[in-house]
Amino acid sequence: MDSFVFQNPTKLIFGRGQIQALRDEIPKYGKKLLLVYGGGSIKRNGLYDEVMQILKEIGAEVFELPGVEPNPRITTVRKGVDICKKEKIEFLLAVGGGSVIDCTKAIAAGAMYEGDPWDIVIKKAKPEAALPLGTVLTLAATGSEMNSGSVITNWETKEKYGWGSPLVYPKFSILDPVYTFTVPRDQTVYGIVDMMSHVFEHYFHHAANTPLQDRFCESLLTTIMETAPKLVDNLENYEYRETILYCGTMALNGMVQMGFRGDWATHNIEHAVSAAFDIPHGGGLAILFPNWMKHVLPVNPQRFKQLAVRVFGVDPANKTDEEAGLEGIERLREFWNSLGAPSRLRDYGIGEKDLPLLADIAMKRGEFGNFKKLTRDDVLAIYRASL
Ligand code: NZQ
Ligand code: ZN
Repeated sequence: MDSFVFQNPTKLIFGRGQIQALRDEIPKYGKKLLLVYGGGSIKRNGLYDEVMQILKEIGAEVFELPGVEPNPRITTVRKGVDICKKEKIEFLLAVGGGSVIDCTKAIAAGAMYEGDPWDIVIKKAKPEAALPLGTVLTLAATGSEMNSGSVITNWETKEKYGWGSPLVYPKFSILDPVYTFTVPRDQTVYGIVDMMSHVFEHYFHHAANTPLQDRFCESLLTTIMETAPKLVDNLENYEYRETILYCGTMALNGMVQMGFRGDWATHNIEHAVSAAFDIPHGGGLAILFPNWMKHVLPVNPQRFKQLAVRVFGVDPANKTDEEAGLEGIERLREFWNSLGAPSRLRDYGIGEKDLPLLADIAMKRGEFGNFKKLTRDDVLAIYRASL
């Protein structure tokens, strides 16, 4: 293992009815708060009314920032920062999916920074303070509810970058599986693909002796794969929603990623696609991940074989490590296809002519990937295989 320090300060408040915890949590941080949410799902499913009722009862003074887009934009972050500065907001409450939470994190840091919040996203400025934030999660996918990361898009420059700071860990996150009942089937699948992809990003590394970490990752994957097919046919099943919600948080809250450095190239390659074409993150990952895997399989075939055997039930008898590994990758593709995930860039109208632009965006900050450093040619090859 590599040496590591682990600290995750987010208070995770999980289960049915836990929304009531807002009554105790919010007053710890202030009365003047900015409620951040998306395009209206929380109004349609009643969560907005429930939250507002509690906020009213605890005497909070509430300002609102609605309309956070999927793939949240810096323009919306700037709006939120302006409200925080003008109204002297004390606390930020994000109610929504990863996009709402990521936007809220950027507002929290931007509100305590003199310049343009985009400086923070592009790492020109390091946040030195942030407003406290809490979340009510409505979609199992990103893990943003219990990590310090945030991904923001600049639509004008076609850039989408992740940034992070320990200052923007949510103070608390409330996860009630019931609030995820209304997530439509396609969005549910994108979330499942995203959380599985986070585990894959962890799994491919070069650290030695990580048997427990491997098995943490493998059990997350097998649990998700066992539950996902049942969930997509029973979107309002509490137990399935509960399992998937917990898996999504555990896949990217630091608990299974101690002692090694994961790869993260596929996330970069996907962020370029959503920066240019505004596609759902999980949809892009479903297309790209198996092709990244095939591309880097020769780096460590034994690792791919281990995944294939332990997670995808591949029988390794009379097969080389490469053959067994490849069979595992094929089974992953079949599994995602069976859930109805997209498998080709052309599903989003993206063709050969678009690939140089995508590669330019992906390579803007130079070569990337820790399991295998990808050059522009590698990136183009993965995009081409994904057409
Ligand atoms: O905007 P509303 O109306 O709320 O609708 C949303 C949105 O259209 C809808 N939705 C959310 N909860 C719902 C619901 N619809 C019905 N019922 C509910 N309960 O779902 C749509 C997608 O929401 P979004 O928040 O965009 O999805 P997700 O949670 O997948 O977040 C994606 C964003 O997170 C970034 C992605 O790049 C993307 O920008 N990521 C953030 C990470 C992090 N901070 O750690 C890591 C990830 O790898 C990822 O990159
Ligand atoms: Zn992701």
